[in-house]
Amino acid sequence: MTETAQPILFFDSGVGGLSVVAPTRALLPTAPIVYAADSAGFPYGTRTEGEIAARVPALLGRLVERYRPRLVVIACNTASTIALPVVRAALDVPVVGTVPAIKVAAGLSGTRVIGVLGTQATVRQPYVDDLATRFAADCTVLRHGSAALVELAEGALAGTPPPRDAIARELAGLFDQPGGDRIDVIVNACTHFPLLADAMLAVAPHIAFVDGGPGIARRIVALTQGQAFPATPVPGRLVFTRLGERERTIAAGLESQGFASVEAL
Ligand code: DGL
Repeated sequence: MTETAQPILFFDSGVGGLSVVAPTRALLPTAPIVYAADSAGFPYGTRTEGEIAARVPALLGRLVERYRPRLVVIACNTASTIALPVVRAALDVPVVGTVPAIKVAAGLSGTRVIGVLGTQATVRQPYVDDLATRFAADCTVLRHGSAALVELAEGALAGTPPPRDAIARELAGLFDQPGGDRIDVIVNACTHFPLLADAMLAVAPHIAFVDGGPGIARRIVALTQGQAFPATPVPGRLVFTRLGERERTIAAGLESQGFASVEAL
């Protein structure tokens, strides 16, 4: 493979990482992209730390061997907050992780009350405590873990619009906590959630929703500075660890987003 053709490999448990692919493509429109979803291991948010720490590095090792990427992006907060150091130690390519955009939220909040919406596994990570202490020390940081939003985002990509009351119920997990009525910024600390941005804003129009996608895209640009990219956009490739009917439906819907092929790992 020529250096120009070497892809950027995005990895998530499901379709969430597409919310990181979009801002990346806006900055690097001709970058070859391989998008890998661990559909056999989905969802990650209800798994234990041990399961994620064992599964993610092993899968990424196989993916790197097969696709020879120039850069790996773990487009998943759950996998990043648990397994990023292990993955970095195991791979000999640069690895960019996704961590909750608490710093961005603290920069925006007027009320100094921030909500962090992630998977159950992400919101209990010490990594999140550390980000809150370092970047939002003068804020109250409320957290809520939601498996339902992950499913709603997957459903939305497969063609089922998310019901408004289901979105409202999940946001209530933040708003109903003591002080929750003062939240003015919510961190979408799961890459699936920005895929529900319109539905969330419809329920909570007074909230600024932020996520790590744009920051990661800028980091990818910085890390690939000076590298050769194709002159025109090339079709993206989708890879699933289990390729069933559901995954094929999702893949068909993603043709319009430039993903022309789908394969099993
Ligand atoms: N998209 C993932 C994240 O950012 C995980 C979703 C899941 O599999 O539970 O945390």
